[in-house]
Amino acid sequence: MALNQNPETKELDKLKADTINAFSLSKITFLIFFIVALVAKYIFRINIYREVFFLILGWLAYCYLAQYIFLKGRMSLKKIKMAEFINCITCLLFTTGIFYYMGGILWIGPIFFTFIILYASLLSFPREAFIIVLITFICYSSVIFLQYLGLIPYKEFFKLTPYLYKDSQYVIITILVGGFIFFIFFLTGKNFSQRLKQKNTELAQAKKGLEEWNIKLEEKVRLRTLELIKLNEDLKQDMTKRKKAEERLKKTMNATIETMSKMIEAKDPYTSGHQHRVCQLAVPLARELGLSEDKIEGIRIASLIHDIGKIGLPAEILSNPTKLTEIEFNLIKNHSQIGHDIFKSIDFSYPIARIVLQHHEKMNGSGYPRGLEGDKILLEAKIICVADVVEAMSSHRPYRPALGIDKALEEISQKKGTLYDLEVVDACLKLFKEKGFKFK
Ligand SMILES: [Fe+2]
Repeated sequence: MALNQNPETKELDKLKADTINAFSLSKITFLIFFIVALVAKYIFRINIYREVFFLILGWLAYCYLAQYIFLKGRMSLKKIKMAEFINCITCLLFTTGIFYYMGGILWIGPIFFTFIILYASLLSFPREAFIIVLITFICYSSVIFLQYLGLIPYKEFFKLTPYLYKDSQYVIITILVGGFIFFIFFLTGKNFSQRLKQKNTELAQAKKGLEEWNIKLEEKVRLRTLELIKLNEDLKQDMTKRKKAEERLKKTMNATIETMSKMIEAKDPYTSGHQHRVCQLAVPLARELGLSEDKIEGIRIASLIHDIGKIGLPAEILSNPTKLTEIEFNLIKNHSQIGHDIFKSIDFSYPIARIVLQHHEKMNGSGYPRGLEGDKILLEAKIICVADVVEAMSSHRPYRPALGIDKALEEISQKKGTLYDLEVVDACLKLFKEKGFKFK
């Protein structure tokens, strides 16, 4: 029931709920009091007047009625304040009645009335609370004085009571002490109440600050999420563009490779289609050997242009239908180096230039142009070397008829390990004999 001078609707509802809770607490307290009084009267045979029970029941009835009124509809701040004041006065009257019928025992009064004082000091406005304290004091002292003066009959609770009322000094001192206790409780309660309110206000401010901070944080998170979504979309678009650009680049590169391949085949008509057929065999060979897709792509490109260096040789040598002289053959050998020099400055992501350079190297070092041995030769070059020999032997040449695929396979079988890589030859034989590979 803590009242606020400028309450909002939410605050009003809270006040209303507080008041209803206070009634519930009162009902429980007085119910317990009623049961205790019953036990005291009928079990311990203490002289408790019937009127005490009626007063307790009356107060309980009042609590139910007031709570019912409160539960109905909305209440303004003014009404809540008024109801609170009426509650205190009603409680005071019932308590005064109970106090009188309990024999008006001097020290019992402060105990009864203290609860009302505390209630007033904790829950009311200072002005109303002070009025309630004054009325409490008047009620308390009136009961005592009226009994002392014999204007109202004694309600004998303890036999000692009437004798105490004959001592005026005792009566006055008790009233003063009782009054003093009332005011001390009132002031202490008020101070406590103020501290409680202050703490509540601080807590409410902290909560509000926290809520505001939370809202700001949520907003930041929302904006950041939107930014991230946009960034993600941009990235996706960027990736799609990149992918398209990569595809275009790949197409361009393939077209360039194809053109280069055709260029040399145009110059060397007798070996027309040779590079394509080497490529046809080299790629499945690489796959058979379990090479990565990246390396296979390198082999595909290199095999399509491995004889590009022939472009730097005289056309007469290339188109010579007779067997070549040693000098001519030595000139032909230069095509590996020329091919390497053409590609060495191009960044292919694959070692194209080195593959082209090494495609005539042999395992025992008898190849050209460097005479490299075994592991010093790239596996890609070894693969193209075998595919090159098999294709050349199985195809027609101006200076000899086609030797046939069997002869070609026999050649690589006989010289595997000496001229050709063992594993590459095995893979090649497997391709032809077990997997039915054929040149198109
Ligand atoms: Fe070659």
